[in-house]
Parts: sequence; C-alpha cells; structure tokens
Amino acid sequence: MEILENYSLKNHNTFGIDAKADYYVSIRNEDEIEELINTEVFSKNKFFILGGGSNILFAEAFKGLIIDINIRGIRIIESHDDYVIVEVGAGEFWNDFVTLCLNNKFYGLENLALIPGKVGAAPVQNIGAYGIEQKDFFYSLSGLNIESKFFVTLNNDDCIFNYRNSIFKNELKNKFIISYVRYKLSKTEIINLSYKELSQEIIKFNIEQPDARIIYDTVKRLRTNKLPDYRLMGNAGSFFKNPIISEDKFSKLKNIYPEIKGFTQPGKKVKISAGWLIEQCEWKGKRIGDSGVSEKHALILVNYGNANGREILELSMQIKQTVMEKFDLELENEVLIIQ
Ligand code: EPU
Repeated sequence: MEILENYSLKNHNTFGIDAKADYYVSIRNEDEIEELINTEVFSKNKFFILGGGSNILFAEAFKGLIIDINIRGIRIIESHDDYVIVEVGAGEFWNDFVTLCLNNKFYGLENLALIPGKVGAAPVQNIGAYGIEQKDFFYSLSGLNIESKFFVTLNNDDCIFNYRNSIFKNELKNKFIISYVRYKLSKTEIINLSYKELSQEIIKFNIEQPDARIIYDTVKRLRTNKLPDYRLMGNAGSFFKNPIISEDKFSKLKNIYPEIKGFTQPGKKVKISAGWLIEQCEWKGKRIGDSGVSEKHALILVNYGNANGREILELSMQIKQTVMEKFDLELENEVLIIQ
C-alpha cells in the first residue's frame, strides 16, 4: 500500500474533472483497509471513498485523502437448487459483474446492465434502472466500521435501502468501508418488463417471449442511445433525483401542465420526472462554456472538455433555480458534490 501525494483525479471521475487530491491510496484487500486506518495520514485528514467515480463531482481540489477501492474477485459462496449467493469485491466494475452473472446463468440483474461505476458504490446509492433496484437482489455486505475498527456484515434490512439512498448516505456516512457485496441470484430466468420504455422497445422488435439475454441487450441499447458515453463526453448520469411529491401537489401541477407524467409511490406520493421539468425550463442541449445539459437527456450535465467542477456546479444551481421559479419544486442532487 502506497499513499501518493498531490494526485490528479482526472482519470478517476467520469466527469473528467482535473481536480487534485492531497493524498491518494489504492486499496486491494481487507488487510490494506486495516493498515490504512492505522496511518497518520488517515487519522489526520478527511477522506473520501472512491468507487468508479461515476456519481460524483469534484467541485474543487480535495484537501484530504482519496481511498480508491480496488478489491477484486467474484465467487459463489452458496449454491442451492434454485438460487446462488455470489460474493463480489467492491472494486469490480458493476457491468462486468452483471455480464458474468448472466453468462453463468445467474439471473436478476439484467435490467441494471451498463450502469457505470464499481460494485461497492451500488449499495451506497442503491442503484436502479429499468424497473429494478440493486436492493431487490442484495443479500449482504462486509466492510470495516471505522469507529469500532471491526469488520462487520450487514444484511438487506440493516442497509435501509430506499430510492437512491441507504444507511451509507446517512448514519454510516464516512464511517464504513465496504469490502465485499453479496447478491442472491436466481437459477431460473426473471423477466421484469415493468418499465414502460423497456417493454415498448421489446414490442418494437416483435419479440414475443424475451429471455434474460434479450432484456440485457435491450437495456444496453436503450442506455447507449439515451445516455452520453462518459469516455466521449464527461458526465455522471442523472445529476438530479426524480422528485417525489404529494398527490396534492401533483394534481395542482397537472391542472397547469396536463401532459406531466407521474408514477404513484407508497404513502400517497407521486414520482415525477426531473428530466421533463428541466426540459420545460428549456435547458436541454444548452451549453455554457464547456459545461452543458445533454442534448439527449435533460437530466444529464456534461463536460464538453475542459469544464472545471465549479462551472458544472454553477450550471446545476442555475437549473435548480429555474425549476424552483417555474414549478415551485426543489430538485435534489443525485450526484455527490465533493468540496
Ligand atoms: N424526460 C423528458 N426529457 C428528458 C428526459 C426524460 O421529458 O430530457 C421524461 C420522459 O417523459 C421520460 C421520463 O422522463 O419518459 C423518464 O425518463 P427516463 O426513462 O430516461 O428515466 P429518468 O427518470 O430520467 C431514471 C434514472 C436513471 C435510469 C433511468 C432508467 C434517476 C435519477 N435516474 O432516469 O438512472 O437509467 O431512470 O430506468 O432515477 C442515474 O441514476 O444516473 C441514471 C442514469
């Protein structure tokens, strides 16, 4: 384990922001986590745990220690007649894991194909797409509790998963380093076509009985068509969360904007599309210097090349302000701002 100083994070965040960190360390196994937490650099600095850097914005240089988790390995730890428990290192790429599971006929995660980032970040923000969330297949995870300095295992209920949320963004924020995550996957195919855009795409191709491979391929095609590739244009996926509002507020909005779409949620709530709100404020495709709003999808902010973190952050604040003025709604960031 080597702690590097004054380290550029440009290749460690999908926005492609050239921010520097005072210290940077790459962690390859649980022993190195223990070694790290006993160092002076760790105890004297603030730290940030980096997954794939696909959901963060470095607004400025990071005055502290970046802990880059590179724990690898995928193995079956339990096999039953109808399901398996697969354990995966927090440093594996999520999409590689999803692909490997499908190739081995362990089903469930196909709708989450092509989500960027690493496995350790998946439970933190409870990643979701095309009708499922990782919590639907999550079994347990292990990691170090920084306060107690013990490795512990947390199960699904312990993690308090919610829409893009978990205990790791709340009570355990900055207090836990995830090392391994386990998923319970089915040995028979699970077909989830609840997401309208996905089922419509399947119908478009005249596929009568889609199998798991077709779901996986279709999700990949939808994402490729809709979401800009961060290797070509820096971005961190959805910049904002989809607001969840009261039925009351929704019906008021519906009176003014009859075309607004809402998705009913538990507790008399309605989820509405932040992309739609932003598009109504005429931000889609707008560019300010090297920062901008994707032409393909209004929820995605992009770096055209040399934008810095401040510029992207400022653009996001302008968007929030116009959405507030027009709809009286506060957009919440989905991307984590690091400063
Ligand atoms: N829409 C617009 N204009 C836009 C974009 C979207 O009007 O520019 C409206 C359309 O009505 C569309 C609806 O929004 O039908 C929903 O759009 P989409 O299916 O793209 O989903 P989303 O709500 O914008 C969410 C996730 C994505 C995930 C997709 C697919 C959040 C914050 N985002 O986006 O996740 O891939 O659903 O399931 O929940 C991410 O988190 O980084 C991410 C990309």
